Amino acid sequence: MRKGLLRILDLNAKELMALLASGREWKRKGKLRNPPRPLEGKTLALVFQKASTRTRVSFEVGMTRLGGHSLFLSPADTQIGRGEPIRDTARVLSRYVDGIVIRTFLQETAREMAEWADVPVINGLTDEHHPCQVLADLMTAQERGIRLRGMKVAFIGDGNNVANSWVEAAHILGFSLLLACPGGFEPDARVMAEAGALGRGDVRIVRDPAEAARGADVLYTDVWTSMGQEKERKARLAAFRGYRIDAALLRKAAKGAIVMHCLPAHRGEEITEEVMEGPHSAVFDEAENRLHIQMALLVNLITHQRRRRKT
Ligand code: CP
Ligand code: NVA
Repeated sequence: MRKGLLRILDLNAKELMALLASGREWKRKGKLRNPPRPLEGKTLALVFQKASTRTRVSFEVGMTRLGGHSLFLSPADTQIGRGEPIRDTARVLSRYVDGIVIRTFLQETAREMAEWADVPVINGLTDEHHPCQVLADLMTAQERGIRLRGMKVAFIGDGNNVANSWVEAAHILGFSLLLACPGGFEPDARVMAEAGALGRGDVRIVRDPAEAARGADVLYTDVWTSMGQEKERKARLAAFRGYRIDAALLRKAAKGAIVMHCLPAHRGEEITEEVMEGPHSAVFDEAENRLHIQMALLVNLITHQRRRRKT
């Protein structure tokens, strides 16, 4: 693994599978009376420019369980909001903390933070990628007995940050990913090309949700309006009508298929209440697994990486 995680493509197949195994291991260790605390004395900064429930809480709790500490920094708490450059913030934070999680708009901002920091930087969501989410999703699929290599995933809805991370995972691990989205809402073309260069997955864009869902092991969806797109909400509601996971779509999937959603969900929009709360739903396991997989990631990045001071 490189010195941080900005996108799924930062991992090769071996590293990704090892990380998933380590996530399962941390989940098991969590049940011990005295679980190991390898990050004692370490501090993680969470630089968040967008709202969050799962990402923030799972990283903070993860650090606590590992014996470390975390600092949540909203835009109101730092000088970034008042124009202090990311490259300065990165160098200053690196003098204090042992790792940084950034949730922001542009991938370029996360990339710049990683470039200038000499501690590991983890992408906690950008407009382009959401790697920690898809790591937790892959771990959840494994737990449910799905073999990742060769599985069939149907992503229904917006070709957004979560979809982009799924595209990268499909090409690294080699599985089938059919993305059903309306025209104009495809995953990022550059991500498709860069991940596609690995060529291990069967990634296709289709228009018909039923075509994507047929025989799928995993039905996946996410909100139609992501953070930062609120002004487009009305147009998006119209564009995505018909791209909903409901009981009829679920019947087209493989027997024993699981339904996943990164949350927060908008019941009645991208997923029905019935499916979300039904027996095929794995959504709360996914949310829980954010904690375990990120603990694995933090231990890997913070304990195994040497500092490279840039200033
Ligand atoms: N799935 C996810 O990242 O949730 P939050 O926005 O609540 O962190
Ligand atoms: N695509 C969503 C994911 C939220 C976890 C967003 O970016 O808002």
